[in-house]
Amino acid sequence: PKVTYVEYSGTEREIELPSGLSVMQGAIDHQITGIDADCGGECACATCHVYVDPRWLERVGPQGSQEAALLDFAALAQPNSRLACQIKMNDRLDGLVVNLPEAQH
Ligand code: FES
Repeated sequence: PKVTYVEYSGTEREIELPSGLSVMQGAIDHQITGIDADCGGECACATCHVYVDPRWLERVGPQGSQEAALLDFAALAQPNSRLACQIKMNDRLDGLVVNLPEAQH
């Protein structure tokens, strides 16, 4: 499945990721600017904050409780904020678009 990362600068990069890989790991593997992932995917740092394109929110699903608690502390969190390490790619998410926030720029 493909995901499009929209960097804060406006640069868009569409990348094919294997199913099961997190949106965070895909960004790290492809040197996307704007995902720091300090905790390595443990849902403990909130530096993999992304804004999910509204068209995809329903498929991505709601924030988990730990995720929501972390996002409370993230700069400029919005209702469509998610932690990219908690989004695992699968065929239903083919075409997903995520926007990277200014704070990780
Ligand atoms: Fe740390 Fe996602 S990588 S919360």
